[in-house]
Amino acid sequence: MRKIASGLAPVIPLDRNAKKPLHRQIYEGYRKAILERHLRAGQQIPSTRALALELGVSRIPLLNAYSQLLAEGFFESRAGSGTFVANLLPDRVVRAPTRPAARANMHSGRRPVSSRAQLLPPFKAVPWTRGSGAFSVGQVAVDHFPVDTWSRLIARHSRRLHARSAHFNDPRGDRAFRQAVAEYLRTARAVKCDEQQIMIVSGSQEALDLSARVLLDPGSQVWIEEPGYWLARRVLTLAGCELVPVPVDRDGLDVAAGMKLSRTARAAYVTPSHQFPLGVTMSASRRLQLLNWAQSCGSWIIEDDYDSEYRYGVTPIASLQGLDTNARVIYVGTFSKTLLPSLRVGYLVMPADLVDRFMAVRVAMDIFPSHVNQAVLTDFINDGHFGRHIRRTRLLYAERRERLVHCLHNEFDSRLESVGTEAGVHLTVTLPPVIPDRPLSERAALEKLWLWPLSPCYMSEPSRQGFILGFGSVATAEIPKAVRRMAMVLRPETDARN
Ligand SMILES: Cc1ncc(COP(=O)(O)O)c(C=O)c1O
Repeated sequence: MRKIASGLAPVIPLDRNAKKPLHRQIYEGYRKAILERHLRAGQQIPSTRALALELGVSRIPLLNAYSQLLAEGFFESRAGSGTFVANLLPDRVVRAPTRPAARANMHSGRRPVSSRAQLLPPFKAVPWTRGSGAFSVGQVAVDHFPVDTWSRLIARHSRRLHARSAHFNDPRGDRAFRQAVAEYLRTARAVKCDEQQIMIVSGSQEALDLSARVLLDPGSQVWIEEPGYWLARRVLTLAGCELVPVPVDRDGLDVAAGMKLSRTARAAYVTPSHQFPLGVTMSASRRLQLLNWAQSCGSWIIEDDYDSEYRYGVTPIASLQGLDTNARVIYVGTFSKTLLPSLRVGYLVMPADLVDRFMAVRVAMDIFPSHVNQAVLTDFINDGHFGRHIRRTRLLYAERRERLVHCLHNEFDSRLESVGTEAGVHLTVTLPPVIPDRPLSERAALEKLWLWPLSPCYMSEPSRQGFILGFGSVATAEIPKAVRRMAMVLRPETDARN
């Protein structure tokens, strides 16, 4: 049974000058709240002492009102635990027509919304995002998360509530946490930064939003990867930018093509370590080309380094920001892949001269990030748990990835091509271009198999069809069965068109 909020009082407007006595007003206030279903059966009622204090009246009218409500069966008292709205309500309540909660009239008069908000298509939950397991994208190995350590750190920091940490804080986040993140990024990602340049945010999404607010204007042209990350597209669309889809090939974003399409674009959004969704790594020459373009045109590069901790069998690759000698790169990272997406913690590395601007905008958005997770994560990183967790999950995901690649090859042979298998917690398979991916994803979702179609990652006409397969949350032993199920769903199409 759903738990009901306890001990909260309904709004009872008391008029001390009215002829109607206070006990009657309180009685009628409760009765009305019950009849209109604002209070529900089983909900706890505050004690007369607490409510007298809250309403600023003596206990006498409350004792009178409560005893009448008890006598009429609206309330019931349970020895030792208090007074509750009765579970078996009086007949007249049960028989009262169940009026739908009074709804505001939403169909009359002008109801303007911003033209910005209208730039976005409505958000619709698509069938392939409705479940978890094989092969949902963006999911991680929750069962391998170090729950005991995490709970211990949460308990430690919940006990230690200092005035300093309880109140308003630096818009960039806690200094100790920024220091830990800066050290991690300098060491593991060759990012050039100190803690002054770090801003803690609620995931990459907030980092992108903040960057767009600071750097871009309505009408600014922005290169985005084609195919690319749909949530980055949404942020830039909301900012009123003109999106310029630039093709991605085996070396990453095609800079020369970008320059032909819009040489003076204000910014480029890229995922150079592991292009989303094709999984390619941007080559060294493309990185230099991109940095040169940004410097020569006075443009910005937003580097989304969302899952670079996971690379398999290939040498780690440093961040693009680390190569940049002109402070043109805004670096974005997240704990959504290394820890949990629901933590909603990420970070941004700002060029030193933009720190003040980012801080001013952040204060206008949500002031500063919430404290407890930052304190926990600081210890989690500094005590070595983060490094250990990454090493462990890297082995785990490497095993899952290998099994998935192997099973896909066995099951489909050349009918599906796997791409971008060297990094991350997803890989992409491409279908023969004549087979549309979306209807197959819809069919698979009916079988509780989550195949994210590739075509919606394109802004213009898709040149590839296929699926993005997340393997983060699929146990290695379950992968062969899941791939067989996938083959069953796809077989009529893949066999017919082969
Ligand atoms: C390209 C890309 N960037 C960022 C993220 C993570 O976003 P967030 O940190 O907002 O959870 C994802 C998640 O799947 C992603 O695919």
